[in-house]
Amino acid sequence: MESIKVALLGFGVVGSGVFNILQDNKEKIESHIQKRIEIKKILVRDIEKARGANAPKEMLTKDINDIVNDPEIDMVVELMGGIGKAYEYMKIAIENKKHIVTANKALIATHGDEIYKLAVENGVQIRYEASVGGGIPIINTLTQSLAANNVDEILGVINGTTNFILTQMDEQGMDFDDAVKLAQDSGFAEADPTSDIEGEDVAFKLSILMSVAFGIKVPPHKIPREGITKISSKDIEFANQLGYKVKLVAAAKKKGDDLEFHVQPSFLPIDHPLASIKNEFNAVFIKGNAVGELLLHGKGAGSTPTGSAVLGDMLEIAKIIGTNYKPGAPLVHNGGDLNLIGEGVSPYYVHLHVEDKPGVLGKITSAFGKHNVSLKSVIQRSRGEKTVPLIFITYDTPRKDLDDAIEEIKNTDAVIRVESILRVES
Ligand code: NAP
Ligand code: HSE
Repeated sequence: MESIKVALLGFGVVGSGVFNILQDNKEKIESHIQKRIEIKKILVRDIEKARGANAPKEMLTKDINDIVNDPEIDMVVELMGGIGKAYEYMKIAIENKKHIVTANKALIATHGDEIYKLAVENGVQIRYEASVGGGIPIINTLTQSLAANNVDEILGVINGTTNFILTQMDEQGMDFDDAVKLAQDSGFAEADPTSDIEGEDVAFKLSILMSVAFGIKVPPHKIPREGITKISSKDIEFANQLGYKVKLVAAAKKKGDDLEFHVQPSFLPIDHPLASIKNEFNAVFIKGNAVGELLLHGKGAGSTPTGSAVLGDMLEIAKIIGTNYKPGAPLVHNGGDLNLIGEGVSPYYVHLHVEDKPGVLGKITSAFGKHNVSLKSVIQRSRGEKTVPLIFITYDTPRKDLDDAIEEIKNTDAVIRVESILRVES
């Protein structure tokens, strides 16, 4: 049986998952592709470190040249993370005619175009299924199974850490800091969870999804985004009372010739397919003009779920090694007719804390009206205390109009503070 030789760059959570699945499912894999996948080298920083998989010590190296200069190695699987070294090593590997698999959303979202171009020039494949949604096969679904569709909408809960935090706040009544700590103790959140809780991780993933679904490149830093750090248990309680769940949502929606896109914590109606996605699970909701509505749901992170997606890509590449198959066009950015309008219009939830006295509501509603913000409902939940929460749900409004109204409301006598503003998805 032909043997495909592979090098892993990185042997952490995902690298060890790939190694273990390859060992555990060896027979299934070999019978499926009629080839053997052999890991020849693994790049790490620390050879002595304890690992989540038992690789022979002589397989480990700290020198990238042991990999890129080895003519026997057909495929390099980048599982280091970050951009600097991962980008540098990936380029050298491609120039040395190695096929590439990666789980690195930051790298693909930031430099995917250049890498793809280089891969095509060098006649090698690059695949990145695990970069979005961990074990969920979203990239291959969009690029292969749904290739005949025009995609109209993608909505995703695609960050396990933040979904875990919001679920704990909702179901256990935890406050934000305790929920972050529990996410870290449970191994979901990283020691530094900033990229997750500030929405950056989701912006990387949404940039990749827009690229494959709409053929449009929007760099992650141009995606309007907000994290979950300002969400309080009170907001989650009000959401429940009003028939919603709070989720960090990545959205890209066609509206006529416009494409709206954003990453924002949002109120989702309780019967929306994404409202029931809990804890570290991810889900992506797609509307295609032929297939209709589709929901992919699964583990968005973790050693073997992510390893499963990485191996799927490795097997696809292994199948074409030794054949005449030539990689197709690079990531095609052909959605040029769409106007990229960012967050567009939406209903919003506004939570204010005010003094409970006559005339306050009138002043606030007239400030909304002055800035063209139309109100759908107003709720004051408690009475009898000096200060009370006041909740508004608006009709569709541009965020700019809402922000102008809020600026005026902030300075209104009796308004103590603006607690939060959240998008409401319909
Ligand atoms: P990790 O546990 O931190 O492992 C990173 C590995 O890369 C470690 O083995 C580390 O070596 C090695 N490494 C890092 N920098 C290196 C360098 N300059 N030279 C040599 N080796 C280096 O990370 P991970 O969680 O497996 O994530 C890997 C990639 O998968 C990232 O791009 C991440 O975004 C993506 N991803 C992860 C998940 C997940 O659930 N963890 C899910 C989806 C996608 P040492 O062990 O010697 O320090
Ligand atoms: N930090 C990411 C998450 C890992 O929490 O979803 C998967 O990309």
